[in-house]
Amino acid sequence: MRNCALLLAALSLLAGCATSPTDDRQRALSSWLQLGPGGDGSLRAIVRAGADCPTAMIDRVARPMTSRAEPGKAPPLTGAGGNRAFNPEFAVRSCELAVPSPARDASIDGRPIPLPRGEIKRIVVVGDTGCRIKVPAGGKGDPIQDCASPAAWPWPRIAAAAARARPDLVIHVGDYHYREYCDDPQRCSTLREQGVVVGYGWAGWDADFFTPAAPLLSAAPWVFVRGNHENCDRGGEGWMRFLSPLPYQACGNQMYKSATRSVLDNNLTAAAYRIDLDSELGLIVADNSGHEDYRPARETPRDVALFRQTLAVLREAPATQRLWFFSHRPVWYDLLDPASQPNALQTVLRNGLPANVQMAFAGHQHAFETINFSPDADRAFHPAGRPAQVIVGGGGTQLESLDPHSPFYEGEGGMGSKERARPDGRLYDGVAAATGLVLNRYSFLLLERDAEGWGGTVLDPDGLPITRCRLSGGSKELACRFPGH
Ligand SMILES: [Fe+2]
Repeated sequence: MRNCALLLAALSLLAGCATSPTDDRQRALSSWLQLGPGGDGSLRAIVRAGADCPTAMIDRVARPMTSRAEPGKAPPLTGAGGNRAFNPEFAVRSCELAVPSPARDASIDGRPIPLPRGEIKRIVVVGDTGCRIKVPAGGKGDPIQDCASPAAWPWPRIAAAAARARPDLVIHVGDYHYREYCDDPQRCSTLREQGVVVGYGWAGWDADFFTPAAPLLSAAPWVFVRGNHENCDRGGEGWMRFLSPLPYQACGNQMYKSATRSVLDNNLTAAAYRIDLDSELGLIVADNSGHEDYRPARETPRDVALFRQTLAVLREAPATQRLWFFSHRPVWYDLLDPASQPNALQTVLRNGLPANVQMAFAGHQHAFETINFSPDADRAFHPAGRPAQVIVGGGGTQLESLDPHSPFYEGEGGMGSKERARPDGRLYDGVAAATGLVLNRYSFLLLERDAEGWGGTVLDPDGLPITRCRLSGGSKELACRFPGH
């Protein structure tokens, strides 16, 4: 037994010498592979401010990573009106490396990084995962989510369960960072006692996303969609440092809910890009996080013009390829009132969405929802039928059912009372849905490719099935059973 232990110790020492730094302070705090424009792989790592970017091993060749964003210190806030989302503290270096294609294996510090492997058959979709804390001094503000409770904030459980689902690809539809600020000494004292971290800098990002996401970042390559919580006037600086598909640029000094707020035009909005899973299926990844979708298009002409530019990739895919469109804000959803529709995105997609777009995935509404339209429901603007809208927004952030301002608030009716097995007749840009459901539950979606198309399973934070869905062939309906039926 003792000899075995000695042998193991010696072997692990040798392995460590070959590929990883001996000084723990040099070791990457987080590392992952993300797919970007054209499906190219970008290896990313975060290291402490005093550490150099690591050297990755790709197919046994040492390749030094380069610095993507240098450590940065926040300037002091200037009085009560100071903008804390501008240039917050990042005492870390962000590193990147374009992965040559094809590559068979990759590692950082001896830790394997999953590369795309063969046919992508299992896709995990998660969204809206951060723990909600936004408490102004002296004001009522939002309810404080209990980030220390696995029941009240289940993102760490969801990330672990999603990793156990052995995905080939993970797609996060945005809103990673919700720990904005807590300024009311009385309301925030419990948080401080529990050591809950809040803020737009590295510490907030690490607590809200990187530490809980670690098992899922190690499980598969990722696609990151930008949420409105990653706008420049909120967690945008972290988005640009760590997850953006663009080369790093510093966010501007924009103040949330002020005249300088983030809109598409000043938000370092990336052009939508395509990732081909194979010749039959491509993913379009769009950044609509700065879109003021609650305003009608006539009030936001600049957004209309910008969407025409940034969504150009939609028209470039071969007509024979099916496309799935990913954005944070849905094209159609329940939180838009009729007076705001059509908004700029809906306007641009009217007679602008190619017939081969089969599904539109999003988050933003904190629930799981499918909205399926009859093929001929909107012949004037979508002659080939509207794609199915699928919302995967129950990833950990306080659910709509718990938010008194949401139409799905369940306060009076109790849990499940605002869940729906079928559409309620409301109009989405003038059109009612034919089928669909709403589940006010913490959940994520697993899509599995089979001979007939794709099977979907909505899973709870422990990985247990809530319900099952099916996307058959080229149909534009994700058909899900209501739980228990
Ligand atoms: Fe959200």
